[in-house]
Amino acid sequence: MTSRSHEHTELPLPNGWFAVAWSKDLAAGEVQAIHYFGQDLVLFRTRKGHARVLDAYCAHLGAHFGHGGRVVGENVRCPFHGWQYDGEQGHCARIPYCDKIPAKARVRAWPVVERNRMIFVWHHAEETPPIWDVPTAPELNDAAWTEPRYYELNVPVHMQDMAENNCDPVHFKFVHGSVDVGEEGEIEFGEDGRFFRIANTAERETPLGKFTTRLERDSWQLGMTSVRTLGIPDAGLMMFSSTSPIDSSNTCSRWVFSVTRNLVDIAGEDWIEGMSTGVLQDMAIWKNKIYRPAPVFCEADQYLIQFRRWVRQFYSTAN
Ligand code: FES
Ligand SMILES: [Fe+2]
Repeated sequence: MTSRSHEHTELPLPNGWFAVAWSKDLAAGEVQAIHYFGQDLVLFRTRKGHARVLDAYCAHLGAHFGHGGRVVGENVRCPFHGWQYDGEQGHCARIPYCDKIPAKARVRAWPVVERNRMIFVWHHAEETPPIWDVPTAPELNDAAWTEPRYYELNVPVHMQDMAENNCDPVHFKFVHGSVDVGEEGEIEFGEDGRFFRIANTAERETPLGKFTTRLERDSWQLGMTSVRTLGIPDAGLMMFSSTSPIDSSNTCSRWVFSVTRNLVDIAGEDWIEGMSTGVLQDMAIWKNKIYRPAPVFCEADQYLIQFRRWVRQFYSTAN
């Protein structure tokens, strides 16, 4: 029998850092209900300015902090009976009508890092503390570069399927109408095998003249990538992205773009536009595809084969 539900294999959720919000969208004192990793969570910003993420449901009678809860100092206060939970540790710090706080009055506090204009949460299937860090994109704090542009898209597919596209030069011809099958580049892995870079160096015509430019596509983990154009003197384009599992068949992808001010009007805007509309062309494939754990590859599918091998390190369970 051939049917999508019958043929599809569900993938587990990977381990790593995943963006759950834009920094600009969370003011001090703000509380939001969010759903990632198949779980209901609460996101809030404390009065000191720390972004915090806790399990959504109060240890007392189970009210959802994200619906009517509010920030009190460094804590979030439950909307039902006012118990306050510390945002960093998740323990109950105060019960307004009782001096004795039960030891079990705590909820899970998720590791949070704020970087590159995004709020990241560490997800690990075994609740292991963070094993690596989120890299900094220096362009986002450089006066020669434009204020960032933001792009966000929900995609009805597991995040691994979305990430696999980065290692699939052939689809650019068929899905995105490129003239030929995309250029291969050199692939280089970091020492720990987690980081890899695909780079293409070539002499290219640019709006500022002819230069040997280098396109670098970095992957820091499953769902965290950056793209950079290097080699044009005092000019460049960059994109940093985080792709996060909402659950095993829905993904939220966030991209932040910046370009040097001298390029923004002559190339930058078009580049940003091209990147963000291009992804919509992938949608029809993603929406309707199944996941094949053991695909039939041909000899020319080297990147895809390497991607499937690389990706295994981000899962606690074999797949
Ligand atoms: S349910 Fe949260 S304080 Fe009672
Ligand atoms: Fe694509």
